[in-house]
Amino acid sequence: MKKIKWGVIGAGGIADRRTIPGMMLANNAELYSVMEVDMNIAEKLKEKYNAKKAYDNIEDLLKDSEIDAVYIASPVVYHKEQAMKAADAGKHILLEKPICLTVEEGRQVVDYCEKRNVKLATGFMMRFHSYHQKMKQFVKEGKIGNIVSARAQLTCWYPDMPGNWRQSFNTSGGGALMDMGVHCLDLIQYITGYKARRVAGMASTLTFNYEVEDSGLIVVELENGALCHIESNFNIPDDAAKGRLEFYGTKGSMLAEGTISQIESGQLEVTFSDDTKAYDAKQDRQEDRTRKIKVEFGNMYTKEIESFSDSILNNTEVAVPALDGLQIQSVIEGAYASSKSGTYVKL
Ligand SMILES: NC(=O)c1ccc[n+]([C@@H]2O[C@H](COP(=O)([O-])OP(=O)(O)OC[C@H]3O[C@@H](n4cnc5c(N)ncnc54)[C@H](O)[C@@H]3O)[C@@H](O)[C@H]2O)c1
Repeated sequence: MKKIKWGVIGAGGIADRRTIPGMMLANNAELYSVMEVDMNIAEKLKEKYNAKKAYDNIEDLLKDSEIDAVYIASPVVYHKEQAMKAADAGKHILLEKPICLTVEEGRQVVDYCEKRNVKLATGFMMRFHSYHQKMKQFVKEGKIGNIVSARAQLTCWYPDMPGNWRQSFNTSGGGALMDMGVHCLDLIQYITGYKARRVAGMASTLTFNYEVEDSGLIVVELENGALCHIESNFNIPDDAAKGRLEFYGTKGSMLAEGTISQIESGQLEVTFSDDTKAYDAKQDRQEDRTRKIKVEFGNMYTKEIESFSDSILNNTEVAVPALDGLQIQSVIEGAYASSKSGTYVKL
């Protein structure tokens, strides 16, 4: 079977922590080259993963005609320029979330790649989590009826680190919402199949001294009217993180914990209820219909790389188009505008 040869740009961060190890397990992909700003680090990563080539600049990496696709996992401030250069070189691109600093930049990249006929996907790998796939299936089957509310939460501990790119607006475009809220919103939209049509947001820096928010809350109204909320925090200890994802509908609920994470794990409890009894003032629960769902866990990063590689090999639509990343970014920008103005923003 032909394997897609990958070049990794910004190979020393999440690429080294998660994505390259996931790529090594993919059946249709091969790590071909790595790029880091420091050649010593690039060489070390090349050795570690048995890659063919190491580079300290993207121009040389992109000149290599062996490479079919690049994974861009550099700080967000470099995404636009690097994606455009990769498109010029005719490489297909998996561009980490958030795709760019702003919606405007993101739109330029999406248009640029479209014109050059290269595939452009974004890094919402959590869609591939077995529980998230299961939840999407339950919604599709109508198991929880019409969805009326949802909640998603992603937190971590991210203390002051002077000079850190994520903690400055110019290099990150935003804080906890931009970095982690995007995954939460993507999962709500992906699982329900509805996009946000109205947003209200609050963004505050409560605990640390950096300029981006360490605490963010978004309330969105989906196209079907469901009211959802998303919480993103940089100031909750990792040990205390819950990563909850909850959906409620006219026929039941699905409650996941620990699934919004970099590791495919967690648990899922569902309650499906077909009864449409008359109003019960005592709100008695006749029986406990809640049950735990079992799935087989895999590696979300392996599935992400396999999926994108597959779309190149078979020339099919990508599973996580960058356009979805762009739409999500417009909701996050709306949330920031709402936080400043104190009003709802229509999308
Ligand atoms: N999907 C996920 O699971 C996930 C998780 C974490 C981060 N991310 C995303 O990945 C991207 C990188 O985040 P991170 O946590 O790895 O950051 P990081 O700071 O840990 O790593 C970024 C890497 O890029 C390198 N770099 C710096 N300047 C560069 C340049 N000009 N060109 C190429 N590489 C350069 C750095 O040396 C560093 O090794 C961001 O877009 C982030 O949102 C995604």
